[in-house]
Amino acid sequence: MPGTTEATPLGDHLEIKDSRTGKIYTVSITDDTIRTADLRQIKVKDNDFGMMGYDPAFMNTASCRSSITYIDGDQGILRYRGYPIDQLAEKASFLEVAWLLRHGELPTQAEHDQFTHDITFHTYVHENIKQFMEGFRYDAHPMAMMTAGVAALSSFYPTAKNVHDPRERDFAFIRLLAKMPTIAAFAYRHVKGMPYVYPDNSLPYAENFLSMIARMSEPRYEAHPIYARAIDILFILHADHEQNCSTSAVRAVGSSHVDPYSAVAAGIAALYGPLHGGANEAVLRMLNEIGDAKNIPAFIEAVKSGKGESKLMGFGHRVYKSYDPRAKIVKGLCDEVLKVSGSSKDMEIALELERIALSDEYFIKRKLYPNVDFYTGLIYRAMKFPTDYFTVLFAIARTAGWMAQWEEMLLDKEQKIARPRQIFTGSPERNYTSRLNGIHTITK
Ligand code: CMC
Repeated sequence: MPGTTEATPLGDHLEIKDSRTGKIYTVSITDDTIRTADLRQIKVKDNDFGMMGYDPAFMNTASCRSSITYIDGDQGILRYRGYPIDQLAEKASFLEVAWLLRHGELPTQAEHDQFTHDITFHTYVHENIKQFMEGFRYDAHPMAMMTAGVAALSSFYPTAKNVHDPRERDFAFIRLLAKMPTIAAFAYRHVKGMPYVYPDNSLPYAENFLSMIARMSEPRYEAHPIYARAIDILFILHADHEQNCSTSAVRAVGSSHVDPYSAVAAGIAALYGPLHGGANEAVLRMLNEIGDAKNIPAFIEAVKSGKGESKLMGFGHRVYKSYDPRAKIVKGLCDEVLKVSGSSKDMEIALELERIALSDEYFIKRKLYPNVDFYTGLIYRAMKFPTDYFTVLFAIARTAGWMAQWEEMLLDKEQKIARPRQIFTGSPERNYTSRLNGIHTITK
């Protein structure tokens, strides 16, 4: 009970004694969690601001209640809406999973048919988007093109800003899922200097994406079924991962009630970073740098000593302190894809790197295991995607999770505009005295 100075018999609670005043406070515990706002009652003087929690990088702060994705990092468990990730990867399609993430249940046949139809119907983008993409330099990073392309969509669908209208949210969900592969494929073709290929709406989601990537003069492009299924599975594995950096960015930006295209563009920007979605790109660059399995021990020593490469990319995770369940699936998938594409030296180096790292005291002690990004890059490379394109594939998939999380945030009555506090460490008040030579002095 906030404000009391004695413990009360009201359910689970924490008793806090403030050594500065000797006062005892009680703070309710729900779901093994306290509300840091309850700490504000702890004051030395009545006009104090009250106590805050300090948690840089949100290491131990839950920012929301969510029923979408469950992770147990110690046991290596990942479930979407209760369904284990390995079952979804084996049996479901990406569009089923996208529906599941948003609606909480797998689609019925009728819902699935309608959803697939809607997604297919919205794959085309306005011709101005195409022209806009053409304005990028020939060597533009495709993630920069994605961020800008998706942000630009908000200007084509101005009514999407009516975020409290469920119909608008339906449209935004469908449009974003439908158009992401198209914008992504345009970015790919732009960098390659190849003509953009329009969607082929007779094809399923992954096949249509691969068609827009690879089709040349043939009237219809048929992707290798193993490649198409691999893309669909990788999309499933990347579809959501609870409150990661980019999802937190989408939620935080979306909490200002900006339109979802702008919020998702913020998510794409966050995903671009090498510590997040950019890691699969970094893994491949690292494998290139290693070059040969015989160089691995020296490379690992350099990582451990902090010299040269500071981290083993594709290893470690804020939440998983055991093998990332997605990494296991991707490793198996990699074998399947390599049977089609032919063996790869990168794979040999990756397997040996994993073997050596997992038996090294440094990695064991810190519970550093391969994460999802360790093997995804190998699949993408085997399928001939350029290295800087890998994160784009992640972004297409994560759009399903971003949109589900964005809507959950909007409908959550406890959520408000995201606005953290700070502990101010700067200068106290001081008077302005110019340090310039006088030339720039403003006269009023
Ligand atoms: N290689 C070597 N040492 C590492 C690594 C690594 N990949 N990751 C963490 N460590 C060490 C780190 O130096 C620290 O050591 P010490 O205790 O001696 O200071 C200890 O392990 C704890 O690491 P941390 O940096 O406090 O852990 P974190 O939770 O802040 O970082 C991480 C998580 C994923 C950013 C980090 O492990 C990392 O940078 N990994 C490489 C990049 C990568 O693969 N990112 C993809 C993440 S999975 C996809 C996604 O969700 O985006």
